[in-house]
Amino acid sequence: MSKITFSAIKADVGGFPGHTNVHPELLEVARKNLEGKDILEDFHVTHCGDDLELLMTHRHGEDSEEVHALAWDTFKKATEKAKELGLYGAGQDMLSDAFSGNVKGMGPGIAEMEFTPRKGEPVVAFMMDKTEPGAFNLPIFKMFADPFNTAGLVIDPSLHGGFRFEIWDIKKSERIFMETPEEMYDILALIGAKGRFVIKRVYPKGKKLPNDELVAVISTEKLYQIAGEYVGKDDPVALVRSQSGLPALGEVLEPFAHAFLVSGWMRGSHNGPIMPVGVKDAICTRFDGPPRVISLGFQVKDGKMGEAADLFDDPAFDPVREESANIASYMRRHGPFEPHRLPLEEMEYTTLPGVMKNLEGRFESVE
Ligand code: F6R
Ligand code: MG
Ligand code: MG
Repeated sequence: MSKITFSAIKADVGGFPGHTNVHPELLEVARKNLEGKDILEDFHVTHCGDDLELLMTHRHGEDSEEVHALAWDTFKKATEKAKELGLYGAGQDMLSDAFSGNVKGMGPGIAEMEFTPRKGEPVVAFMMDKTEPGAFNLPIFKMFADPFNTAGLVIDPSLHGGFRFEIWDIKKSERIFMETPEEMYDILALIGAKGRFVIKRVYPKGKKLPNDELVAVISTEKLYQIAGEYVGKDDPVALVRSQSGLPALGEVLEPFAHAFLVSGWMRGSHNGPIMPVGVKDAICTRFDGPPRVISLGFQVKDGKMGEAADLFDDPAFDPVREESANIASYMRRHGPFEPHRLPLEEMEYTTLPGVMKNLEGRFESVE
């Protein structure tokens, strides 16, 4: 069976209003621009908060110039519409003027996965707003390595061998491959520091799937490193394959039954609880948040994505939404104090240094 590539490419090209949501006309522009394009097998356009999300299947592999050019062109047209409508921060993530073959390093976030589809191929696309790539560390670890989350790791011989993790040090631009269950504690030693070490890809161990192709991928762009100044958090996306020797769909979703803390939220400067929601509720209102995550499920067939299932639009996730809202209130009561506000070293990449600069020269030494 021939390989297909699932690409998730996203950008904030203008908010409506403020940084809360994407205007419906932008979604329309994006759909029109992807419609009928021969290079795509299929596509789905959606949004999480103020991020315009392009989900596409095609046969051109990862880093395809044609597919990236189409995504770039789509964001450009959406930016024009955003300017016309006077949307907020029009073109925010379009950090470069000229497309040079790949959208990496130009502002948009990218997660791409080329694989040989199995007979039944469920793929889940996760999209987050008001947080950073490391926000996926905890849920991805739980899906593929935590026996208290994923029953299959314990009771299904085809998962029992564990998985292989590709972890990136995003400050040093280095990576390391590590395996579970053997190196579980070492993996956690790294990925617990989610602002620095991020899970980039997960692979099966022991030839479970054809060519040991990857089973999960997370976008790891860091906007501040690209732009050289604060332009918002990275609002990551992730793609996860499931079932038949991989975590079941319910095991892939289960980590989100907990409103874990992530960094981002207001001004990319606060810790707050993630809130899993259906697409209709993917609107970052309270204190520009709390950070949201949506998940769309697809049953890929002959390269086509087919219908999207809005997986968190489910009353089973009501309790975690309530937990998230309650934690949001609790955290908010700290106002400008840590640990609601991020620690100083992480505030380096926000607008705070501008304030600190004004105080320079007023400090006196003390004995
Ligand atoms: C967070 C985010 C928003 C803005 C905030 C201030 O990622 O995008 O919380 O940081 O609304 O935005 P400006 O500086 O554009 O007024
Ligand atoms: Mg924005
Ligand atoms: Mg955003």
